[in-house]
Amino acid sequence: MEERLADELRAHADSDREFVERAFRLVVRRGPEPAALERALAVLADGTLSRAAFMLELTSSAEFARIRLLDDAVAIGLAARRRGERITSHFAPPRTDERVVEIPWVLSRLRPSGRVLEIGYAYAEPAYLAALIRSGVELVGVDLATRDVEGMETVVADVRKLPFEDGSVDQALLVSTLEHVGSDNSVYGLPVERDGRARVRALRELRRVLSPDGRLLVTVPLGEPGDYGWFRQEDEEGWMRLFEKGWLEVEESETYELTRDGWCPSPAFEAEGVRYGQRGPAASAVLCAELRPGPRRSLVPWPRGPRDAAARDEPAGPASL
Ligand SMILES: C[S@@+](CC[C@H](N)C(=O)[O-])C[C@H]1O[C@@H](n2cnc3c(N)ncnc32)[C@H](O)[C@@H]1O
Repeated sequence: MEERLADELRAHADSDREFVERAFRLVVRRGPEPAALERALAVLADGTLSRAAFMLELTSSAEFARIRLLDDAVAIGLAARRRGERITSHFAPPRTDERVVEIPWVLSRLRPSGRVLEIGYAYAEPAYLAALIRSGVELVGVDLATRDVEGMETVVADVRKLPFEDGSVDQALLVSTLEHVGSDNSVYGLPVERDGRARVRALRELRRVLSPDGRLLVTVPLGEPGDYGWFRQEDEEGWMRLFEKGWLEVEESETYELTRDGWCPSPAFEAEGVRYGQRGPAASAVLCAELRPGPRRSLVPWPRGPRDAAARDEPAGPASL
């Protein structure tokens, strides 16, 4: 039989139910909810929609639009990584959240191999996790919340107290996670905290586990400093101060802001009056930075005792974090 005809016959060989389930998994990458399945079967049965029209409806949905944005972000990041290029001065569509900038920025800087921690993976975008899993690195997801992810080692741990040896990590990724450490994380099923020193503790702990040539890729919301309860936003100076207090040095950093025309690089970003959620669905601006271990700066002598115990339990040094 002619191949074109065989394909057409195959396209109609399954039941409407099988077709709807397959279409949902292919387009929106999940099965249909019961009500959506029932409605789809009804419109296919009464001829309101053909199978082709049903596919068009699915691909025209807001859900698919977001899947496409994230797929684009991943594809751009991975293609740059393959070419050995770092994404800089990136532009992304308007009315979107910051992942469209953060994901390509981070993926283009992902090492070719080595031990990589993804901190805060439990609520990460599936497309981003899938890209990391396929990337060839020795990936470990770390989060206080639990989420099983096939193909990825996962560890339930606090970023302030990591179960890894000193200097054992090549790269750590924190995509929109640092700002949440020590805040009210009940939205993620975690206890409420109000620990203003937590972010510096996290940074010092990450510095401890990084190898001397290891790097931390961090993305955080940028704008007028403020405590939003479930996270804390800083301006660029504020984040830089925290990195320094975390004994990390900035190797590279870029700021982006969301404008009416979309996300664009913003080297002279003015944080005053810029609130989270003001310009779009989430951050109004974002800082992307690559950090390397820096010298420990201490105004008072280090307490005696094993070096890692001091760093693990109480990041000593100056009392103020
Ligand atoms: C906004 S979500 C992260 C988003 C995600 N990284 C992404 O790529 O979309 C914040 C995450 O931080 C995790 N988290 C908060 N405090 C933590 C802590 N102290 N240690 C480890 N994970 C923490 C939460 O459970 C949550 O998964």
